[in-house]
Amino acid sequence: MHIATAADTQHWWRDAVIYQVYVRSFLDSTGDGIGDLAGVRAGLPYLRKLGVDGIWLSPFYPSPHHDHGYDVADYRGVDPVFGDLREFDHLVADAQRLGLKVLIDIVPNHCSSEHAWFRAALADGPGSEARKRFHFAEGRGENGELPPNNWHAMFGGSAWSRVTEPDGEPGQWYLHLFTPEQPDLNWRDPSVAASFDEILRFWLDRGVDGFRIDVAAGLFKNAELPDSPDPMADERSRDSVNPLAWNQPEVHDVWRQWRAVCEEYTAADGLDRLLVGEVSVPTAREHAKYVRPDELHQAFFFDLLSADWDHDAFRKTISEALTDIAGTGSTVTWVLNNHDQVRTVTRYAGETTTVGPSRARAAALLMLALPGAAYVYQGEELGLPEVVDLPDDVLTDPIFRRTGSRLRVRDGCRVPLPWSGQASPFGFTAGGDGAARPWLPQPEWFAEHATDRALSDTRSFWHLYRDGLALRRNLPQLGEGPLRWLETEPGVLAFERGDGLVCAVNFGLESVPAPVAGTPLLASGDCPPGILPGSTAAWWISDLSTKGTSS
Ligand code: NOJ
Repeated sequence: MHIATAADTQHWWRDAVIYQVYVRSFLDSTGDGIGDLAGVRAGLPYLRKLGVDGIWLSPFYPSPHHDHGYDVADYRGVDPVFGDLREFDHLVADAQRLGLKVLIDIVPNHCSSEHAWFRAALADGPGSEARKRFHFAEGRGENGELPPNNWHAMFGGSAWSRVTEPDGEPGQWYLHLFTPEQPDLNWRDPSVAASFDEILRFWLDRGVDGFRIDVAAGLFKNAELPDSPDPMADERSRDSVNPLAWNQPEVHDVWRQWRAVCEEYTAADGLDRLLVGEVSVPTAREHAKYVRPDELHQAFFFDLLSADWDHDAFRKTISEALTDIAGTGSTVTWVLNNHDQVRTVTRYAGETTTVGPSRARAAALLMLALPGAAYVYQGEELGLPEVVDLPDDVLTDPIFRRTGSRLRVRDGCRVPLPWSGQASPFGFTAGGDGAARPWLPQPEWFAEHATDRALSDTRSFWHLYRDGLALRRNLPQLGEGPLRWLETEPGVLAFERGDGLVCAVNFGLESVPAPVAGTPLLASGDCPPGILPGSTAAWWISDLSTKGTSS
């Protein structure tokens, strides 16, 4: 039976809440210690109960997993470790029957060095058609022993690697903005665009509702591949990128073409197919260009994720997004967590250790009250903290390896989910005694966050998310529509949505008078009438005639 939801409306994505499933860490149905598609399928009723509108599946394609699937060896298959195409089809059918949309990750900036395209490029040698799909260039120096330019890779080291030619001699270099196992595709070669057109249709024909697009501000590089005035920019941080390798104007033509493909499918059944881009660009204004009406429907707005726990920073970020992005006719796509970032509970802990969970709960209520769409990363609804003490020898993130063990960034938010019980694998892995251990070790304290506990404890993160999502679905004020800032106490953010829905967040540690009388509809912590405690957010319905300013 198909359950009718808000997702049945044509523009379902505009205020949808999508749950990011990091497949290898969600639920393991086979006992090999790695999550899989059958595990995701088994978890769908749980997600339905949580109340999200859909799921985004991290890459499940055949891959040598140098970057956990973001190195795709075949864009039209399923890695046997995750299942097969039949299992994928069942997953899509089950999800849609439950009223959940299904988005899949697509990785157009680079493929795996084991993809047939790259193998052919190596085998066919310099000047071949196969090499044109990538950025191959002669090296500098007397014998071509130096990389063609000074660019650094995002994950550390040079952005170039040299190949051994079919004759056994050192030869050309190829560009990779991430690891050497992820050669960048050359989008100036028409065969690349043509291939991706077919790949999109392959998955749309299988029924997916859209795509999360990896590195959506990448794809095109300056055609001359000149030296960069700031070669370390990419390696330094998310906020600084090599201006010659990112955000080139030509990339917008690709999104126009992809949007046209989606519109063909929409024309057939009246439902939008969603393109949501991972767009890392320096300003909200640049970001807005990606969501013009004929380009991507949405692009993750990472500024909220990178904002410090500070009411001014949050207010500025939210206002800029609403002005610049909503001004395009799209909606803002809010995100606080994902598989690349330290989890909010830990990130917001600051100097103290006790306020992280309260702040993460408050941030969740804030995000769910904002106009636009929101993404929730698996485990966020359990209040999972980052696992910060994984031993070096279990770390798998290529950033750790490629920065000489300097940056331990992304494994700690990818530890397999706890579902039940008191000891690892906490129900993550099926298969009893013979089962392999989870691919990253789960700490003992994961027991406190297991889903079975969370479901039975009405004060858990899970209930906060569930209640917030249910209200969001039912209260018209929380859909699209204006946000009006309210004057409040210092250190507090308060805004009104629609008619009379007030959300306030106290960023400080001390209680302040609540901006609204009465008992809140929902609060992230204990919230007596008339009081907004520190590190707490709440929602009220008020008849107050507010004295705010529009965003
Ligand atoms: C962004 C993805 O979120 C990240 O996990 C991946 O490593 C890079 N893109 C490269 O594909």
